[in-house]
Amino acid sequence: MPKEASLFYLTTPLYYVSDKPHIGHAYTTIVADAICRYQRIKLGEKNVYFLTGTDEHGEKIERAAKAKDLSPKQFVDQVADSYKEMWAKLHIAYNDFIRTTQPRHESVVKELWETLEKTGDIYQGAYEGWYCVPCESFYPEKELLPELLCPDHKRKVERVKEEGYFFRLSKYEKPLLAHYEAYPDFVQPEIRKNEVRAFVERGLKDISISRSSFSWGIPVPNTKGHVIYVWIDALTNYYSALKDSKEHQAFFGTKEHPLAIHLIGKEISRFHAVYWPAILMAASLPMPKQIFAHGWWTVDGEKMSKTLGNVVDPHVLCQDIGADALRYFLLREIPLGQDGDFSYDALLSRYNSELANDLGNLLHRTLSMVDKFCKGVAKKSDADDGFAQKISDLYSQVDQSIGKLQPSSALDSIFRLIRDTNAYLEHKAPFHLIKTDPKQVDKVLYNAMEVLRHLSMLLHPFMPERMRELRRQLGLSHPEQVVLSSPFGGLQEGTQIQKGDPLFPRLDKDAQTLLLEKWRGARKMTQQTEIQEQKKPTSLTNKKELVSFSEFQRLDLRVATILTAERVPKKDKLLKITVDLGEEQKTVVAGIGQTYQPTQLVGLQVAFVANLQEAKIGGIVSQGMILAIGDNDILGLLRPEKEVPAGSVIR
Ligand code: ME8
Repeated sequence: MPKEASLFYLTTPLYYVSDKPHIGHAYTTIVADAICRYQRIKLGEKNVYFLTGTDEHGEKIERAAKAKDLSPKQFVDQVADSYKEMWAKLHIAYNDFIRTTQPRHESVVKELWETLEKTGDIYQGAYEGWYCVPCESFYPEKELLPELLCPDHKRKVERVKEEGYFFRLSKYEKPLLAHYEAYPDFVQPEIRKNEVRAFVERGLKDISISRSSFSWGIPVPNTKGHVIYVWIDALTNYYSALKDSKEHQAFFGTKEHPLAIHLIGKEISRFHAVYWPAILMAASLPMPKQIFAHGWWTVDGEKMSKTLGNVVDPHVLCQDIGADALRYFLLREIPLGQDGDFSYDALLSRYNSELANDLGNLLHRTLSMVDKFCKGVAKKSDADDGFAQKISDLYSQVDQSIGKLQPSSALDSIFRLIRDTNAYLEHKAPFHLIKTDPKQVDKVLYNAMEVLRHLSMLLHPFMPERMRELRRQLGLSHPEQVVLSSPFGGLQEGTQIQKGDPLFPRLDKDAQTLLLEKWRGARKMTQQTEIQEQKKPTSLTNKKELVSFSEFQRLDLRVATILTAERVPKKDKLLKITVDLGEEQKTVVAGIGQTYQPTQLVGLQVAFVANLQEAKIGGIVSQGMILAIGDNDILGLLRPEKEVPAGSVIR
């Protein structure tokens, strides 16, 4: 086994199989893949371990399977396969794909549970709190948005009251703070580190780590009717994937040499930088080296969501502009750690200007001139115009950027050399030079070819398929071979070029218009199918607790007639509505703006809670509540079957 210092272990989160993957999901994996591909070339294939997989348990998945009339097992099998297909399309070369339903994982989760029971870190208790099923997470009430909405999904949370098991997270408050202090790079970037530290400093409460209101999960050892909380289950993958493989155990590290880097999205940093390290401490397992949280992709400034129908499908983009161009755009567009807004226009603009023009054109014009002026073969020459130094500097810059997990800055440096080389060709103008100094033309073109050879190596981790093609066109005898070796002059004398199709065909105005229409149309289609799916009745697994008749009677339910309705500025879900209750009028703010246009509502009679305490929603005082159907997405309004006097009592 090689020395630990040269091992590299990178993970992505496990993808929830309940969600249709969009470019945001693809992003984490593409970044991880590019970094691991680079490290493989640098450290050797065997010294890099890239782990990804699927998160297949929990209530969210149980519900998603039910909505498709499948058993959870049938459902997860189907979706895990579709993830693997997508990763193949995107040229993702993982070492291991772990599924949380695999026996190799389940047995380790149970073992870890038993260890934590033995150390006294797990105990029995009762829990009551607000739960968001899409996040699979409990929220303290103070973190919720008005109307009990989850701060992440903006959907209504559910009240959960269960007997169960707890993890003694509070015990690890001080040890975690000490760890953040001792290892300043443990959580990155700084903004996430500060958030995580502030969260721990506010005080940690023990967390509920079992559920009993559904059954799709890993059973709690020796306890009927309880399953292990899906996050505890899923986080354990970083350990279970390696634990039973002698060959790979070294990647998990030792206390002194922690190796893993967990690349995650910023919304799950609490799970990775607080819960998981506390569990590792409790079980005396080695800590990861770093948790790096990247930012979020939005579309037109909005979070991608089924409801908004703005989900960007990586399959479609792969098919239309190629996987490597999509990889390039996502890696280049935003520095890792920052948020970014996805737009098709920006994608097409980078494609045309950087891939087709700068890089594609450099290859195309170089090969055309080699063909024309050098009989299609390389004539070995010395470095010109400082290229030897520029190439060597570029290797260092790329190495540093990748070491800091900054692929976009690596690409920035690489494209600077591409532009420099294009400028060099323009300046040297081989078309004119050939008439006066043919020897000099050999030299200029050899320099351009040699730069292209180096570029194909440095760009390989980002665009593996296209770079192999570049090397093939350059005429390298082993185009699949990638080495990071900076000396100038590796291109052999007499190498015979193999001109081919453009690496990135330029998209003219018409082609762009067609693509934009197709992509925007595809988004509308997804929106429609998603709405159909949402219309299925929601599950009754989380029934609320019983109330007495007198408790029910405390509600003043009335029929209200809607008088006016208007949108609340900048809040697409919220409508400001005035209603007539016979003897009085009230103003309410209702979260039904994505299902109803204001004009549809005026004149309608609806069921209304007239004695709800006032609350400020979207900056407006709301004096009641319109009753709507649907626990998350609004499926309809509750209305009398015929017109009745405004203010009629409902009982
Ligand atoms: O969180 N922009 O899985 P997941 C950028 N199962 N990244 C995004 C994104 C967006 N719009 N949307 C999603 C889970 N992601 C858990 C993990 S690990 C023990 C369990 C990223 O399928 C997200 O940040 O919801 C995360 O890194 C990955 O997609 C998987 O998210």
